[in-house]
Amino acid sequence: MSTLAGVGLGSGSVKLHSLNSLPPSPILGKRSNALTLTIPGAVLALGTLSYLWATPGVAPGFWDMFILAFVERLFRPTYKKDDFVLGKKLGEGAFGVVYRVSWAKKPSSKEGDLVLKKATEYGAVEIWMNERVRRACANSCADFVYGFLESSSKKGAEYWLIWRFEGESTLADLMQSKEFPYNVESMILGEVQDLPKGLERENKIIQTMLRQLLLALDGLHSTGIVHRDIKPQNIIFSKGSRTFKIIDLGAAADLRVGVNYIPKEFLLDPRYAAPEQYIMSTQTPSAPSAPVAAALSPVLWQLNLPDRLTYTALVSYYYKWHSLQCARTVVSYSLTAN
Ligand SMILES: Nc1ncnc2c1ncn2[C@@H]1O[C@H](COP(=O)(O)OP(=O)(O)O)[C@@H](O)[C@H]1O
Ligand SMILES: [Mg+2]
Repeated sequence: MSTLAGVGLGSGSVKLHSLNSLPPSPILGKRSNALTLTIPGAVLALGTLSYLWATPGVAPGFWDMFILAFVERLFRPTYKKDDFVLGKKLGEGAFGVVYRVSWAKKPSSKEGDLVLKKATEYGAVEIWMNERVRRACANSCADFVYGFLESSSKKGAEYWLIWRFEGESTLADLMQSKEFPYNVESMILGEVQDLPKGLERENKIIQTMLRQLLLALDGLHSTGIVHRDIKPQNIIFSKGSRTFKIIDLGAAADLRVGVNYIPKEFLLDPRYAAPEQYIMSTQTPSAPSAPVAAALSPVLWQLNLPDRLTYTALVSYYYKWHSLQCARTVVSYSLTAN
């Protein structure tokens, strides 16, 4: 055996021991010239790998926290209040006001091609979630541009969050029309189908919508974010991508690092609160520091399984839909499940 033994690196070099002189390892087996992988070694390696990649992902979490977020911070442009011109008010909730806005200085920008939310204390969480989503599953949610803290002597501290304007209609707006779901048909399928109005045609439209929404939700869940406020008002139709996207991450919890996760507190809209929002255990301890929380996150996820009822609920709603033969019911029921 001479592979490593006695490899001299010039004066002052270190002599490495021969592998043969080391005791046998339980993982690599009896020492020999070639490394042999034993069955317990392979099981341990596979177990470690699957833990590191189990939802919500310890390895991707560390990559996101220490590499991607760091690089993003280095290169992102900074904006301030004066870079935007306020337009029409789009909505007002308990935690903020939303406006359509434009760039003040970019001549190429169209009027109102951005959306601004001026938010209270939950704004910081919403910025965190939107930045996480932009790095991990950008297609799930409205296209986030930038978030910053704006302090004024009159109003105190306010968080400003900027997104691209995705389109005029939320799912709530579309569902209010008597034509629903046919009013969505050409928007998501590109053209009106050559079918008479009825269950088969409605099925196709609703299935396409649900596929888009479940994919978007799956994107959030796979990165450890539980939205906790899925409802038609928080689902926007994106004209650019011809898909429904999720908005309003102000109530979301990041179970990978424990941001906005307070075991004894539930943030929910009582009109749409879904049963799984109550299954998050109140016994779970509060999150430790971010790296420790990320390392333990698959355990927290397995303790709570916050995404589990989404799918079981959907299956039962699907059957309900068939028995009621009513597309409207399935969408309003299904969308409460997040
Ligand atoms: N990216 C976007 N593109 C177009 N409209 C948006 C966008 N984000 C929000 N809106 C509009 O603003 C409304 C309120 O936004 P939301 O984030 O849900 O705020 P709130 O906290 O007030 O519920 C939405 O219902 C939608 O009509
Ligand atoms: Mg909302």
